Amino acid sequence: MKKNVIVGQSGGPTAVINASLYGVVYEALNREDVFGTVYGMVNGIEGFLNGKVMDMEPLEQSGELELIRTTPGSYLGSCRYKLPEDLNDEVYPKLFEKFAEYGIGYFFYIGGNDSMDTVSKLSRYAEKVASDIRFMGIPKTIDNDLVMTDHTPGYGSAAKYVASTVREISLDASVYDNKKSVTIVEIMGRNAGWLTAASALARKYEGDNPVLIYLPETAFDPERFIEDAAKAMEKVSNIVVCVSEGIHDGKGTFICELASDVGVDTFGHKMLTGSGKYLENLVKEKLGVKVRSIELNVSQRCSSSMLSGTDLKEAVASGAYGVKCAAEGATGKMIAFKRLPGEDYRIDYVAEDVNLICNQEKTVPLEWITEDGSDIGKEFIDYAFPLIQGEVSVPTKDGLPLFAYRK
Ligand code: F6P
Repeated sequence: MKKNVIVGQSGGPTAVINASLYGVVYEALNREDVFGTVYGMVNGIEGFLNGKVMDMEPLEQSGELELIRTTPGSYLGSCRYKLPEDLNDEVYPKLFEKFAEYGIGYFFYIGGNDSMDTVSKLSRYAEKVASDIRFMGIPKTIDNDLVMTDHTPGYGSAAKYVASTVREISLDASVYDNKKSVTIVEIMGRNAGWLTAASALARKYEGDNPVLIYLPETAFDPERFIEDAAKAMEKVSNIVVCVSEGIHDGKGTFICELASDVGVDTFGHKMLTGSGKYLENLVKEKLGVKVRSIELNVSQRCSSSMLSGTDLKEAVASGAYGVKCAAEGATGKMIAFKRLPGEDYRIDYVAEDVNLICNQEKTVPLEWITEDGSDIGKEFIDYAFPLIQGEVSVPTKDGLPLFAYRK
């Protein structure tokens, strides 16, 4: 008797998380020799616990699956749900009873480090109760902060969006002659500066905007920032400054917390927003020049118009590769990318131990950041440049992108 497949999405979405969903579903539906029904869990493991499950096969027949490939957001819906640390908790037998009810033999979870925590716990529980269900993690996150992988699906498209938007903002910010101004762009990424660093890709020549870039890997001093900005305006009248949402004072306080209280999600992460606004007010008060702050917010993770062809291709391939590995017996693994040596950009797909990946954070190497903490070096440009390459033509209707919507 063939075992069934279930796939879910979890955590914050990316522009290509649905491309990985497509990769899993397409591959599983086309391996009828191995797999039975292919199910999707609606709103991740939390929704699954409440019986929210859908059959994915009709999506292939209707053509919807092809549309899902380039649709942003999480088609199946997401959750930020933390499974208990204690594997004796009653939720585990409850989940495994549900897996049995749906005849599940293969479980795929598309997500970041918190979602890999779910894959880790479920695979460890399976081992404990001698269950043969295979649990696989498919990576995604715009934060690019997963360890043991060169990069993560979702990062390349978000980086392309950031670089392109900062280039556009820089044009807009510099239209008035002889008037000094500061434009601050706040970029996502939590405690990792990969996405903020991508703003450096916007530069066309040395000294071009953004002239200052601050990552959360180093401590941020607001007074030093004011000095940096004043100095930069001696050379460039209209400066663009990029800051991570996660910049902090090095003593445990995020800069956004200086303006207002922040909430906390179920994984205990502070919800970071407002560092740009705080700095806008500071510039107004200390420098008295025209100042504006722009929070890129969710637009940086859901833009279908700025999809990276490389990212989209790798997102699909990582989903499909996860299915192949599971079919061959893998469990408790996450699909990872290994960059191959050589001039041309090439990667290999590998399966790594999910227990070594979950709940870890890979940050930007300190040696890539300039000593004064206000810029990023060439090593980063060489690393990130290949990841934003390639354009994607998204289907349109009546002049607008055509997306897939779960009924
Ligand atoms: O982890 C991805 C991410 O987009 C972070 O960059 C950001 O801080 C966070 O998710 C936002 O979380 P939410 O989607 O819950 O608002």
